Amino acid sequence: MYVCLCKGITDNQIREAAHQGCGSLRDLRRELGVGGQCGKCVREAHEVLRDTRALTSAQSQAAATYGGPHSGATPAMPVMPIMYVPQPA
Ligand code: FES
Repeated sequence: MYVCLCKGITDNQIREAAHQGCGSLRDLRRELGVGGQCGKCVREAHEVLRDTRALTSAQSQAAATYGGPHSGATPAMPVMPIMYVPQPA
């Protein structure tokens, strides 16, 4: 989806820029030109950037918790309560 019509920048381009290290609207403007003309795209570009950073952060935390997909570590299993069920004699 086009976010910046003046520059022809899509949400995927903004996500890719975020993955490459763009962390602010200033970075996006410098790298892609987003918001550099009419400015109508700034809010949407900021939302895409924010959502991408939040998702990347959550994925990093999950990788740190579980050691990543190639670590060989097994994710912690939830602890299930053990219930004692008396058996008939
Ligand atoms: S739509 Fe992005 S600067 Fe105009």
